[in-house]
Amino acid sequence: MEQAYVRDLARFAGSEVVIKGWLYNKRSSGKILFLEIRDGTGIVQCVAQKKVVGEESFKAADTLPTESSLVVEGKVRADERAPGGFEIDVSSIKVVHVSEEYPITPKEHGAKFLMDHRHLWLRSRKQSAILRVRHAVIKAIRDFFDGRGFICTDAPIFTPAACEGTTTLFKVEYFDQAAYLTQSGQLYAEAAAMALGKVYTFGPTFRAEKSKTRKHLTEFWMVEPEVAWAELEDVMKLAEDFISYIVAFALDRSKEDLKILERDTAKLENVKAPFPRVSYAEAVAQVAGTGTEMKWGEDFGAPQEEALASLYDKPIIVHRWPAAIKAFYMKRDPADPKVALCLDVIGPEGYGELIGGSQREDDLAELTKRIVAENLPMEAFKWYLDLRRFGSVPHGGFGLGLERTVSWICGTKHIRQTIPFPRMLNRLTP
Ligand code: 4AD
Ligand code: MG
Repeated sequence: MEQAYVRDLARFAGSEVVIKGWLYNKRSSGKILFLEIRDGTGIVQCVAQKKVVGEESFKAADTLPTESSLVVEGKVRADERAPGGFEIDVSSIKVVHVSEEYPITPKEHGAKFLMDHRHLWLRSRKQSAILRVRHAVIKAIRDFFDGRGFICTDAPIFTPAACEGTTTLFKVEYFDQAAYLTQSGQLYAEAAAMALGKVYTFGPTFRAEKSKTRKHLTEFWMVEPEVAWAELEDVMKLAEDFISYIVAFALDRSKEDLKILERDTAKLENVKAPFPRVSYAEAVAQVAGTGTEMKWGEDFGAPQEEALASLYDKPIIVHRWPAAIKAFYMKRDPADPKVALCLDVIGPEGYGELIGGSQREDDLAELTKRIVAENLPMEAFKWYLDLRRFGSVPHGGFGLGLERTVSWICGTKHIRQTIPFPRMLNRLTP
């Protein structure tokens, strides 16, 4: 008899199979037992009759606690009323491990309780669905870049200096010197782009975010393409094509999971390039027009992002931000040096900034001036400046936050549900 996964039951209709899994839920009528078994790929209802499985097996299963592990044999039967379209008529039940009393019950639990039990919470229907969507988004990311000839080069986690400002650095001991956990792979991606043309890095990045919000993790995954010869216009085009690709892929691949998450997918169907593009100056006026406070020169907070998003039904590209509030490496706009040649992509429905990117400063003297002005350690940037000494070319790229993107696609309110084991201001365990 073959082991079948719940996801594949259609292939086994009418045959005897073995299901190996955990008890998700059960109901009993005294003579018939309805066991909902999950195996990681889905949940199937298994119907056990006392007269078929025998008195002893029946009794053992009837008192089995949630999340006990078991192996069930039975025949796959199509049933229109079943959530996955199939049920199992059980012929035998073997209990593998009797669980202790399971702490997560169908009743409502608080966020802290669930986060303290994250290692178990992952087993619930919605949390597993989110992790499968995360997997699909990662696959979409890899496929998109592979299909366009990008080389994945990746970047170190231990770094000697800041990329995105010195206020959110995690300092660690590195033998007899100080190192910082990387905030972004960008500077290394720039070096790799000069070697390989089109590259991307994809890995964990770290920010000592001291605020508690529903959009910030201290450890999150970022994918960062970098393209030699690309100017701001090319970067904007790449960003909208990228997001459109990811959304279309998830709508196709993660249909069932988005259903489990009760995501209103109509809002995602609309997400196709081109996206609306507004300059920062225009965006400020539009936000102020909604009655939300906003002045030129200020950064967007959650209320401003939400106000802008409320005016559109697609992600919005906001370009040319005040250089003073953006990173040192961004190229200034020759037409207006107050602003940088950069973009943020603001997600719809209040999910906030999905992408931050720019064209990079490619002039040695300008970049050196910027490093001095921001008081960054010149020694640590010597190698980076070399890129402007040996065949400097226009180039640019962006970073997309994986968890922000998954959060938006799944429609989860809080980013902590979109990474298996979140790290935040007040959370280092489990
Ligand atoms: O805008 P950021 O800071 O850009 C950079 O790091 C650039 N060096 C990227 C580049 O050009 N190669 O971050 C990029 C994205 C944000 O738009 C957001 O989606 C995500 O990373 N992000 C976070 N996600 C979760 N928690 C945090 N604390 C995040 N900080 C940024
Ligand atoms: Mg940003």
